[in-house]
This record gives sequence, structure tokens and C-alpha cells, in this order.
Amino acid sequence: MKVLSLFGGPRKRGNTAKVLSWVEDEVKAQGHHVNRIDISSRRINGCLGCSKCKENPDEPGCIQKDDANRVIDQMVSSDIVLYASPLYYWGFSAQMKAFIDRCHCLYRGVCGSAEHTSFVEGQRQALIVTAADPFENNAELIQTSFQRVLVYDKAHSAGALFVCNCTTPGELGEEIRRQAIKFARQLFEDTPTPYPVLIPGGAPHYVPHLSQRNPPLH
Ligand SMILES: Cc1cc2nc3c(=O)[nH]c(=O)nc-3n(C[C@H](O)[C@H](O)[C@H](O)COP(=O)(O)O)c2cc1C
Repeated sequence: MKVLSLFGGPRKRGNTAKVLSWVEDEVKAQGHHVNRIDISSRRINGCLGCSKCKENPDEPGCIQKDDANRVIDQMVSSDIVLYASPLYYWGFSAQMKAFIDRCHCLYRGVCGSAEHTSFVEGQRQALIVTAADPFENNAELIQTSFQRVLVYDKAHSAGALFVCNCTTPGELGEEIRRQAIKFARQLFEDTPTPYPVLIPGGAPHYVPHLSQRNPPLH
């Protein structure tokens, strides 16, 4: 399978990069192809909200001439997409959020209507988040955002991994690596496990999947 990992952290050797590398290493060890894109080092503007993309029925078709279209093309041709981001103000990093907004060009029709189509329909997508604080009263919004991205993309959840209470990458020990490997393996299973929340030095606990039936935004 072709796995695209979208690394949305600005710190190249931070917690998110380290956890993502453990996941990617295991995906490769399982014989799959991984392509990592460092979103922060690409020129990706915010969405203009012009909806010109919606006029093109055959391809995503964003009119902006920056790096986003190339990333979107790679996304369309992948089987699994991993979004990896540090938790910034309870959500995605600004760099990752800018890219997610540009994914507006991936779907057509009103979400949830009979006309709703997506260029990544049926794709598996997964989320990796690192955060300084606990999950509770902190990471719920990014979990909800991810679930809603899935709905708009008509994609399936391949799981989410939350590594909370992070300090430095050096403190992410063997237990987190072991759980990252487990997470990587379940990306290819039909039923992803409930989302594990990993605490360096502590036992994992789990948060349930949210319903994918969200109301359309517009
Ligand atoms: C601008 C900014 C906002 C942050 N907001 C949160 C937050 O809302 N919740 C949280 O738990 N940690 C927050 N953090 C901490 C980071 O999510 C955490 O340190 C993360 O592991 C950093 O990932 P990195 O090492 O890959 O950069 C924030 C850090 C920064 C720099």
C-alpha cells in the first residue's frame, strides 16, 4: 500500500517527528511504501474561499499556484494518509490547518447529500497528535476536527494516536515506541482499535470513535 504521511510540525526533531518516525518505520517494515511530506517546509497558502475548484468536476483543481496542488495529487494517489501534528491551541498546527483548508478542493456537492463526492472516497486516514497536557479538556477538538475531515473526504478512519503529557523527545520511551508500532500495524486492519492515549511513563487509556454522521457545514 502507498502511505502518505503529512508531517505538520515545525520542529524537525520534536515529539511529533519522533512518534511519526516510529510509525513510518513499522509501516515500511510491513512492506508498504511511505512518502513523508514536511508540510511546514512547503509553500502552502490559506484557502481563498473562492470555490473555483468546485467548477472542475474531473480533478481537485485549486487555482492557487503554490505547493498544495502537488501534495493534494499525492494524497489522491495514496491508499492511507497520516496527519501528524503537535496540538496547538487545542487544534492542528497552523501549517497543517492551512493544508487541511486547501483540501476543500477534494469534494463536490453538499456534504451528506446524494451529490456529495470526493476524490479520496474510501481512502483510509489516520491522526497522530502529540501534546504537552492530558487528553481531557484539551485534545477533544482535534479529535472532532479529524472525524469531520473524514466525513467531508468520504474517507474511513484508520485510527488516531494521542501522545499526551509530552515533555522532550528524549522522554518518549520504549513503551511509546511499542504503542506506535501497534498503531502502525492496525492501520491496515479493517476495524481500527479505539483511539489510544499514550502518556510517557504511564499506561495507555482509550477514547472512543466519534460518530461520523456530522451535520454539513454549508
Ligand atoms: C503554539 C503552541 C501551542 C500549544 N498548544 C497546546 C495545547 O493546546 N495543548 C497541549 O497539550 N499542548 C500544547 N502545546 C504543546 C505542544 O503540543 C507539545 O509540546 C508537542 O508535543 C510539541 O510537538 P513537537 O515537539 O513536535 O513540536 C503547544 C505548543 C505551542 C508551541
